[in-house]
Amino acid sequence: MFSQAPGPIGLFDSGYGGLTIFDKIHQLMPGYDYVYLGDNARSPYGTRSFEVVYQFTRQAVSYLFESGCQLVILACNTASAKALRTIQQKDLPGWDSNRRVLGVIRPTVELADTISRTKHIGIVGTGGTISSNSYTIEIGKMYPHIRVTGEACPMWVPLVENNEFNSPGADYFVKKHIDHILSVDPQIDTLILGCTHYPLLMDKIRAFLPSGITLFSQGEHVAESLRDYLRRHPEMDHKLTKGGSCRFLTTESAEKFSETASIFLNTPISVSQISL
Ligand code: DGL
Repeated sequence: MFSQAPGPIGLFDSGYGGLTIFDKIHQLMPGYDYVYLGDNARSPYGTRSFEVVYQFTRQAVSYLFESGCQLVILACNTASAKALRTIQQKDLPGWDSNRRVLGVIRPTVELADTISRTKHIGIVGTGGTISSNSYTIEIGKMYPHIRVTGEACPMWVPLVENNEFNSPGADYFVKKHIDHILSVDPQIDTLILGCTHYPLLMDKIRAFLPSGITLFSQGEHVAESLRDYLRRHPEMDHKLTKGGSCRFLTTESAEKFSETASIFLNTPISVSQISL
């Protein structure tokens, strides 16, 4: 169904958040070719049902495969929580069993035991990610001695998508959720940012987090985990082109995407609008 020719690494997010993952991957492995797709027209995904997130993510992955990607990273916790497994188990075998779709939750979970001293970890994420219990389940399988507390922060993605993450309005919503999760488990010593949009709120989160609590952002670990994966899977690495190019696609206005994305990436980019 899809071409077997080598192609770029695909990255997908509901909007801009995945750029925080792309940025770290690109810094670590600048020689590869990349295609980033943001479904900005239908973002946010965090409030949507399992079925809808799965259907939207499936369309995006299929689009990236048709564009020649042999490997797609779901640079979105909500899509990783709600759609990854079904795509891997149900869709990939019918599409092309040699292609791969990877998520961001697994590489984060693997580090849970190392990053916490008290073994009390907090996760902030979208309503979808938290209600899926993906982090609690995955950490529980690997490290049953760790207590995980999740906190859904439904306003945080809209603050980022609307470029309000530095505004005084953001203070209220950030403080509210930090205070709440710490009241549920005061022994938390590590807070995982379980949404790829949240690194943009890092300064605000830090400002309201008591000192001594570590803030854990996924980007670098996802990037290292991908590099490690490609070392362990040379057959996939050979199918990835290495021309150092980056293409950006969005389902919303290309102009708006490039304007906002330059805040995330600190560099101007060129963007094309597509429809899924
Ligand atoms: N960036 C996505 C994540 O990591 C969520 C954004 C959304 O709600 O669409 O969960």
